[in-house]
Amino acid sequence: MNSFVIKGDIVFCPYQRQMVAIDDGYIVVRDGVIELPYVELPDSAKDLPVHDFTGKLVMPGMVDLHIHAPQYAFRGLGADMELLDWLTHYAFKEEAKYSDREYAEKAYTMFADALRYSATTRAAVFGTIHRESTVLLMDKLEKNGIVSYVGKVNMDRNSPESLTETTEDSYRETVEFLAEVDGRYRNTYPIVTPRFVPSCTDKLLQKLGWLSEQHDIPVQSHLSENPNEIKWVKELCPESRFYGEVYDSAGLFGSNTNTVMAHCVWSTDDEIALMKERGVFIAHCPASNMNVASGIAPIRRYLTEGLKVGLGSDIAGGQSVSIFTAMVEAMQLSRLYWRHIDSTKKPLSFPEALYMATKGGGRFFGKAGSFERGFEFDAIVIDDSALPHPQELNLRQRAERAVWLGGDQKGLVAKYVRGERLF
Ligand code: GUN
Ligand code: FE
Repeated sequence: MNSFVIKGDIVFCPYQRQMVAIDDGYIVVRDGVIELPYVELPDSAKDLPVHDFTGKLVMPGMVDLHIHAPQYAFRGLGADMELLDWLTHYAFKEEAKYSDREYAEKAYTMFADALRYSATTRAAVFGTIHRESTVLLMDKLEKNGIVSYVGKVNMDRNSPESLTETTEDSYRETVEFLAEVDGRYRNTYPIVTPRFVPSCTDKLLQKLGWLSEQHDIPVQSHLSENPNEIKWVKELCPESRFYGEVYDSAGLFGSNTNTVMAHCVWSTDDEIALMKERGVFIAHCPASNMNVASGIAPIRRYLTEGLKVGLGSDIAGGQSVSIFTAMVEAMQLSRLYWRHIDSTKKPLSFPEALYMATKGGGRFFGKAGSFERGFEFDAIVIDDSALPHPQELNLRQRAERAVWLGGDQKGLVAKYVRGERLF
């Protein structure tokens, strides 16, 4: 049985503005699910084996709500264009290579390894249009132990020939993709993945909306990332009042299944209101906001208005798979937003960033991203002794500093997903 006690310095965020810190505490895990965190070990748990991480930080696993697996190969290269040119010059050229199984095998092995040894325990992942390599990607993620939603991407217009499917092929391949992976994995699930409105006809979106509803499969896509992209969507879909309404008309905007939209940098009041009404998750990708010069998403507004927000690395729009890095960038960008755009929008605090990185995105997966009763036990353990300080720091300060100083790179010593220890 997968039942044990974790001992260590425990930090988590059950609410947006509330960080809980338990010095030298315990988490009782039964069958991979959290009973409760404790200050003192209760008698009822005294028979369980103890995984002793005394003196180390124990935090919920990080959730990456938006990452492109095929773009991992060129992360850190070519952040010198804005979105539409960047897609044409870098992303599409790389993604076309995944028609080749051998290339996919090589590149996806590197990607899956990178996620395994990162602080990420859950991720929503874009593949490419290619069914075979997307299934290969899922096989590798399953083997490497994280929990993920993975999508075969759909593209049937305005794309290079090598990445353009016919509407019928795109739909049929998606149906076959869903059939192929149905029941194949424990921790890896399919997700319907229209790339974005410019690359999907209305007809394809309608069919995907129907599929998502029929099979009860969640949806991921991109929304209101870049001004030229939004202008283009207006030209392509003149009958829609705003970008998100195009997805909504196809049943791809949270009305039927969980939906996550990346970016939402330029969402209008109407779009924001509909996201709230439909419970659409926003994947905030701060590195990508900067690297492809999209702008700064108004995250304070989303949090204040009660929208669901998580963090994404958006590899390769973002350069790093580290969600610690994304937390830092989200806090930094929120300060620039406050200074340069709107001084009524208070910068993000550390607990807010940690909340978004864990339970904020974790809710997309159900009970994940926190150390509360009934949550699946996903955790990372960080040895922060490599970050010495001349004074005694309290646990909250240690956690904050570990995030800012890249403790997930230097000190990640253990990782658990659904109660299974990966390393
Ligand atoms: N919009 C459509 N495709 C993409 C992509 O691959 N990356 C980003 N950042 N935005 C997109
Ligand atoms: Fe993206």
